Amino acid sequence: MINTVINKTKEISYREAGKFEETRFEKIHNVIFESSTEASILVAHEIANLIRRKEELGEVCVLGLATGSSPVKVYEELVRMHREEGLSFKNVVTFNLDEYYPIDVDNIQSYYYFMHDHLFNHVDILHENINIPDGTVSDQDLHQYCIDYEMKIQSYGGIDFQLLGIGRTGHIGFNEPGSHINSGTRAITLDYITRVDAAPAFLGLKNVPRKAITMGVGTVRKAKRIVLLAWGINKADIVKQAIEGEMSSQVPATYLQEHDNTTFVLDIEASSELTRVKTPWLVKSCRWNDELKCKAVIWLSELTKKPFLKLTDKDYNDNGMSSILTEEGAAYDLNIKMFNKMQHTITGWPGGKPNVDDSNRPERSEPAKKRVIIFSPHPDDDVISMGGTFARLVEQGHEVHVAYQTSGNIAVSNEEALKFVEVSKVLNSNSTEVDSIIHFLKNKSKNDIDTLEVRKLKTTIRKSESLAATRYVGLPDENVHFLELPFYETGTIKKGKLTEADIRIMCELIDDIKPHQIYAAGDLADPHGTHKVCLDALFEALKILKPESYMKDCWVWLYRGAWHEWETYQIDMAVPMSPDQVLKKRQSIFYHQSQKDGVMFQGDDNREFWVRAEDRNRATAKKYKDLGLADYEAIEAFKRYYF
Ligand code: F6R
Repeated sequence: MINTVINKTKEISYREAGKFEETRFEKIHNVIFESSTEASILVAHEIANLIRRKEELGEVCVLGLATGSSPVKVYEELVRMHREEGLSFKNVVTFNLDEYYPIDVDNIQSYYYFMHDHLFNHVDILHENINIPDGTVSDQDLHQYCIDYEMKIQSYGGIDFQLLGIGRTGHIGFNEPGSHINSGTRAITLDYITRVDAAPAFLGLKNVPRKAITMGVGTVRKAKRIVLLAWGINKADIVKQAIEGEMSSQVPATYLQEHDNTTFVLDIEASSELTRVKTPWLVKSCRWNDELKCKAVIWLSELTKKPFLKLTDKDYNDNGMSSILTEEGAAYDLNIKMFNKMQHTITGWPGGKPNVDDSNRPERSEPAKKRVIIFSPHPDDDVISMGGTFARLVEQGHEVHVAYQTSGNIAVSNEEALKFVEVSKVLNSNSTEVDSIIHFLKNKSKNDIDTLEVRKLKTTIRKSESLAATRYVGLPDENVHFLELPFYETGTIKKGKLTEADIRIMCELIDDIKPHQIYAAGDLADPHGTHKVCLDALFEALKILKPESYMKDCWVWLYRGAWHEWETYQIDMAVPMSPDQVLKKRQSIFYHQSQKDGVMFQGDDNREFWVRAEDRNRATAKKYKDLGLADYEAIEAFKRYYF
């Protein structure tokens, strides 16, 4: 990270926001960690210390608990401490923030199920001390039920420690925009964005309940200590609004600005929109390194809408960047330096241009023919994210391999699968297996997990689509590798953990091919998502293989997935595309037919993947043009990863 904001202490102690220079703009105390794992462990330790302290005093410890992806690793660490260090939950009383309504306790999407699965089933908490809003109470009893829940919290003297996540609407608990600062436990209608975010877990928006029961903002604010967790780039905007914005019912998390013992615990991505992280020169004097200079000058160019070479000393001085000129001399010199730096990221030869001076090129010219592995988390990320570069590597004669890390089978809808199996019935009219798949798909209910045969069918559909696309790009089938990493093969949204088996598969392929270049999805939008796990699998494999002599010649390039692009200052290689190359890329994405037209995991962006990819690649090209560099139709961007 380019600034010194990362927390290095072993304890998260509260400091009042606004009193210190480095928290200018900020109204809530926050700490930033290199990774969500490291941060979660410290939060779990704070909870464990509180439990132990209360135990020594002979008191109960009242915890307010959250569900969702954010607290998962906190619960993991608490369970570990229970198992390995004897941390007891006998004196713990818990109140969960919320529950979908209506929902049954045995529904695997219920928060009841989640809490037992992640925590309660693995520690010695007394059953009667667990409180989770009940998604099965009748409509007419609901109002009184909520009042009783609130009273029960008060009867314990309130919550000692409240764990929170934050929704992209700014909700805490399920207190959606519009919630009152003094609201208590009540039923609430879920916001559209919240339902969209929950849609993958429910296998589609239509299955997500429209209502929930939630503790109120007032209930939460009465807690003695509040820790809110936010991980990943998807949370960056709302985290900034909550910490820096004015208090408003439109972003209920801003109500925490008035609580005097709240800490937001963030990873680097979630903190990336905070002013002190994004534009530190506006907050304090900076130690300028090359990366920070580049970031700042690009920011200045975008702010003033001037290309690099037209920025003046006055522009720098007016925008908090005079100290950069003290180091660099006049704007003129710095502008040229930045122009050249960005210019040197552009290449039409992603595998290196043979027989030329490569000192100012992103890739080496030698060896002229490189062995390349493109790792693709799902069977279509290769073409969506780097279809243009992929095609160039093949055309320029490199030995390109594609490795699909997961089968991507859960993203094939039942309707799509049925279509294929009905075709196959024509060819195998007597097959009982085909009949049983048809029967299963036609009668499948919401909570049914696909049978092994159905998963195999869905995997095969994605394989055939991938092969159609890679053949179109010009790759021989033997260079396409379907790794089917085991962590993914649970048949449900919730994936298993990365194990040695996954990493071994990755290592074997790399060791077999001995690549000069590896491309991988450096997509950190969702730290619990498949892309992140696939990236972790690669990083682990690289660690293991690093001592091998061929790895010294291996360069790793990270591309970003369908949703985000690298910030311009982070780009180390920019591969331009002509209008025809854009069309070719579009065609290769089209082969992934099961992922077209309102697919299961669309998110809240209704554009199809090819549209998103083109919009993104065109936006990158426009950024380059606006900085005063060449004007291309589209650009794919990569960041080099050093290991
Ligand atoms: C969950 C809850 C919600 C989540 C929030 C973030 O009990 O109350 O406020 O904390 O929606 O969810 P994740 O962590 O899944 O991003």
